[in-house]
Amino acid sequence: MTHPRLRIGIIGCGAIAGNHVTAYRAQPDVDVVACLDADAGRATTFATDHGIATGTADLEELFAAGLDAVSVCTPHPTHEALVLAAAAHGVHVLCEKPLAVDAAAAERMVTACRAAGVRLGAVFQRRWWPAARRIRDALDDGTLGTPVLGRVEVLLHRDAAYYTATPWRGTWATDGGGVLISQAIHYLDLLQWYLGDVAWVMAAADTYRHGEYIEVEDTLVATLRFTSGAVGQIVATTAMTPGLGERVTVTGAGGATVGLLEYPEGTPAINDVWAVPGAEQLDPPTAVQPDVDLATINAALVPFHTVQIADFVEAIREGRDPGVTGEDALRSLRTLTAIYASVRSGRPERPDAVSSLDAASTAVAERAVR
Ligand SMILES: NC(=O)c1ccc[n+]([C@@H]2O[C@H](COP(=O)([O-])OP(=O)(O)OC[C@H]3O[C@@H](n4cnc5c(N)ncnc54)[C@H](O)[C@@H]3O)[C@@H](O)[C@H]2O)c1
Repeated sequence: MTHPRLRIGIIGCGAIAGNHVTAYRAQPDVDVVACLDADAGRATTFATDHGIATGTADLEELFAAGLDAVSVCTPHPTHEALVLAAAAHGVHVLCEKPLAVDAAAAERMVTACRAAGVRLGAVFQRRWWPAARRIRDALDDGTLGTPVLGRVEVLLHRDAAYYTATPWRGTWATDGGGVLISQAIHYLDLLQWYLGDVAWVMAAADTYRHGEYIEVEDTLVATLRFTSGAVGQIVATTAMTPGLGERVTVTGAGGATVGLLEYPEGTPAINDVWAVPGAEQLDPPTAVQPDVDLATINAALVPFHTVQIADFVEAIREGRDPGVTGEDALRSLRTLTAIYASVRSGRPERPDAVSSLDAASTAVAERAVR
């Protein structure tokens, strides 16, 4: 089957943008024709390095390239304005995670894209891991029964350079949070894909390891009560040496537990726990792995950016929603916003009652609750 060729623009020419270019170029009849960065020099260098015709810092020049879709690969707080600009130009948009820094912004983005009739996809490429799909299938086919307990562990190592070499990392204004919004959001997305909406959360966070150069949390623990009645827990940190990887487990009402482990970070997860009666399998790693640098992690993500971008391209061609929609991303951002609100208030908070955070108060910097 032949298709009209799709014309793609890349917004933000930093670390993850190359994954998007590689992924689009793996699709038939797709051309990456323009890229934009707030830093004009970075845009032209990226264009030259990747053989992209237009590299610019001017949004109107970008859209003048006649685009069908853009990928937004900029820091989190800038996503909203760029997604709204794409919608205003009638251009489909795939936005990197987190979709926004709070639920209210994500709602505006979802509404604008629906009103403009453009598709909004959110990058959560870990949903395409076979190990993640196997858990979803075990819920769909009844193997697991009703899920009653979900657990997320994000136990990572980051060094000082991770925060200091990238100017936007580590402040509430430019990063929107710490380990929860930047790393744990992937696994919160999986948890809610499995267990659904959250009724209330209670959370605590602090900055134990990286406090000399960041104001956001490097360590966070949250308790979740789902609207289904299930309970869940998130433990997330970038303060470990070495890191111990990322794990999600789901337990069904009958007691069966299935889980996945991403270790080393960036590599496709395995189902390290599959404790289903009659089909038990435990596949833990046998050795502690050395921590790897960010470029290695990002390069390891390419295959799953490629499958998610294949789905996004197909969705545009078929006139359907992409596999992870703006609404899906909004679901985990509602929970995230309530978690940060709970850290600040020291009380349980409901995702349906809090959609944005008071910019004047910051959870960790003020040390509001001890
Ligand atoms: N899906 C994943 O696994 C994954 C992995 C890494 C990063 N990300 C996400 O991708 C986004 C970018 O991360 P990164 O590591 O590539 O960051 P980066 O700092 O390496 O690159 C960001 C680029 O955006 C540019 N920029 C900043 N503000 C801009 C604006 N308003 N308009 C245009 N350009 C602007 C910067 O100049 C920079 O070149 C983040 O939201 C991050 O969470 C996702």
